[in-house]
Amino acid sequence: DVWNPNGKYRVVSTKPMPGTRWINLLVEQDCRVEICTQKKTILSVDDIIALIGDKCDGVIGQLTEDWGETLFSALSRAGGKAFSNMAVGYNNVDVNAANKYGVAVGNTPGVLTETTAELAASLSLAASRRVVEADEFMRAGLYDGWLPHLFVGNLLKGQTVGVIGAGRIGSAYARMMVEGFKMNLIYYDLYQSTRLEKFVTAYGQFLKANGEQPVSWKRASTMDEVLREADVISLHPILDKTTYHLVNKQTLSMMKKEAILINCSRGPVIDEVALVEHLKENPMFRAGLDVFEDEPYMKPGLADMKNAIVVPHIASASKWTREGMATLAALNVLGKIKGYPVWSDPNR
Ligand code: DGY
Repeated sequence: DVWNPNGKYRVVSTKPMPGTRWINLLVEQDCRVEICTQKKTILSVDDIIALIGDKCDGVIGQLTEDWGETLFSALSRAGGKAFSNMAVGYNNVDVNAANKYGVAVGNTPGVLTETTAELAASLSLAASRRVVEADEFMRAGLYDGWLPHLFVGNLLKGQTVGVIGAGRIGSAYARMMVEGFKMNLIYYDLYQSTRLEKFVTAYGQFLKANGEQPVSWKRASTMDEVLREADVISLHPILDKTTYHLVNKQTLSMMKKEAILINCSRGPVIDEVALVEHLKENPMFRAGLDVFEDEPYMKPGLADMKNAIVVPHIASASKWTREGMATLAALNVLGKIKGYPVWSDPNR
């Protein structure tokens, strides 16, 4: 699809994106917008080189694409100065290579914080109350009457939620679980989240003033503390060398036998083969996964595990958020083309 064919700047989007606000923004600023409508879900490096062509000022790309040396050199040869991932995570982008070729890189933080935290909360609830298993049971026609022990799960209230990585999304999730379900909190992060601490302290005081049991919270000095003490553990770190396989055979063995593990960050943060083994050996352990090590695939055996809930990387998939991500990505590229600071540059 081509919008404003006579526009001065050529901006390519490797995928159609929700809404029209992002297109209008670019068109109003004299951009010719080309949207790739190839049916293929994941574009190869060669597909993207063909899209870039001989002249391209900026590209909006997706987390499924490998933005490394080859693509940034192709973009730079075509006169391109800007690339934005339509994602907050940018582990698919080699920022050093982009710098080398003079291409500015943007990402889309902020607009997906609450939406992503809401999915982590949904998975936590669904796992603790066995919602998916119960749905399958019902549809299979197996329900033949109320029973005291049918699909008994856990009450979140009074249990401890453990958050690993208390940045924007981890903190929003922590607030939802503490405020929404009166869970105690333990979190681990390399940086101190004073906003989160202020919130939990104030909320604890509010509960106390109202004669309710206050929630407790603690900032763990090691990740192991979270793994040992939490009943629900949610992973929110970025993916890099230090967080690759953060959850593995050894760290899984530290978790409670009935713990719930949630991952809405990046698949390779978990050693998925070790997780499948752990789920097999510990039927009361549960996992809620939005992301996978080798997307779009799951490691063998995971799909058969009743104690795992799996969804296809949809944590940021609310209409408002996806339109916001598209808009932010367009602003990133436009900002660079027009000489304004890139809206959200992950280097900053
Ligand atoms: C991201 O933004 O990094 C998510 O994985 C997709 O929204």
